[in-house]
Amino acid sequence: MIEFQPLRRDDLQLVRAWLARDHVRRWWRDPIDEAIAKRLDGIEGDRTEQYLIVVDGSPIGMIQTYLVADSPEWEQIVGAEPGLAGVDLLIGDEEATGRGLGPQLLEAFVREIVFARAGTNACVATVEEANRRSWRAFEKAGFRHVRDVVEDGLPHRLMRLDRRYAP
Ligand SMILES: CC(C)(COP(=O)(O)OP(=O)(O)OC[C@H]1O[C@@H](n2cnc3c(N)ncnc32)[C@H](O)[C@@H]1OP(=O)(O)O)[C@@H](O)C(=O)NCCC(=O)NCCS
Repeated sequence: MIEFQPLRRDDLQLVRAWLARDHVRRWWRDPIDEAIAKRLDGIEGDRTEQYLIVVDGSPIGMIQTYLVADSPEWEQIVGAEPGLAGVDLLIGDEEATGRGLGPQLLEAFVREIVFARAGTNACVATVEEANRRSWRAFEKAGFRHVRDVVEDGLPHRLMRLDRRYAP
């Protein structure tokens, strides 16, 4: 069973440990202290919704969503549009990767959380071209590769799921 539990301060130690793992660091390259400070802002603020991914009672990773309009830099990359939400995720427990969980939890997350907000029309993610495992997971959850973008100087796929095609 997949559950999404709002991220709490007490979870940050676990998130820190996940961010330090090689299979995550390869794609989440922000300095760990900065990444943790962002999560803390998310917990204290009301913009980014961050969740612990819990599978059969065990926490295995983290997932978040936010309105693209709240991040002007990112809006420049993905385009400005009302009701556009972003999503990011990581499976921190390496044993839980490569088993088909990513697509399942993305599908559940967009259904239960992202599109549960009435004003959300579409959901997007930028995924590094080299991170095939990730963009395949998004594709299998119903996202389409709509165009290529450059983020942090690296080629990324812009993946998108419109509400009308959502699970
Ligand atoms: C990206 C992530 C969410 C994908 O979830 P997952 O459950 O591991 O993915 P799946 O097991 O469903 O695999 C998805 C696809 O990648 C393939 N794959 C699995 N392991 C792979 C590997 N080590 N290298 C390349 N492809 C791999 C699978 O075969 C599948 O492709 P297919 O449908 O063509 O066969 C997860 O691996 C993760 O969080 N990784 C670390 C952090 C990260 O990359 N986050 C995303 C940043 S955008």
